[in-house]
Amino acid sequence: MIEDNRTELLRQIKDEVINLKTSPLYAERMRNKAHCVIGEGSHCASIMFVGEAPGRNEALTGRPFAGAAGRVLDEMLATVGIVRKDVYITNIVKDRPTNNRDPLPEEIACYAPFLDRQIEIIQPKIIVMLGRYSMKYLLEKFGLGAELTTITRMHGKLFMAQASYGTLTLMPIYHPAATLYNPNLKKDLAKDFELLKGFI
Ligand code: URA
Repeated sequence: MIEDNRTELLRQIKDEVINLKTSPLYAERMRNKAHCVIGEGSHCASIMFVGEAPGRNEALTGRPFAGAAGRVLDEMLATVGIVRKDVYITNIVKDRPTNNRDPLPEEIACYAPFLDRQIEIIQPKIIVMLGRYSMKYLLEKFGLGAELTTITRMHGKLFMAQASYGTLTLMPIYHPAATLYNPNLKKDLAKDFELLKGFI
């Protein structure tokens, strides 16, 4: 798939999400004059990060990981010499849940097909799952649901999956926001990022 085609297909996803009146979060986005957050980065990225849902800063700017959690993500990328524009960063849920509450199953179900399409278009070699929601959704999507335990046990483990375009690695890691509440997790997160050097 040539890059222009990827850009066009991703633009279509953006248009569809902007107009997604069936979403349980659509009315609130309109009321708050907020943005949906589709994703950003290289359309040919070999590394894709999938978070949970936009927070306040993301809904204000329309960019994923634009606040405090994003600064941790940027810091981790820098420690392994990866430039943010060379990876692709997105979330399962594309609109901000009220007051940053955890996403509801119906919200995940509503937006997950867009994530599925983003994966097919970008065709990453590895998907890094930021936190338990993306870990659960993606392991189940790729038939690895039986492997699911807690993020504490699973972070930094590499799982091989079969995507339509070839073999794909899945790696759960702690959500960067978790390190803001528990700074001890930062060294585990940094260690897991080291594994990404093999996928650049
Ligand atoms: N947390 C997420 O999961 N995604 C973002 O984009 C920002 C914070």
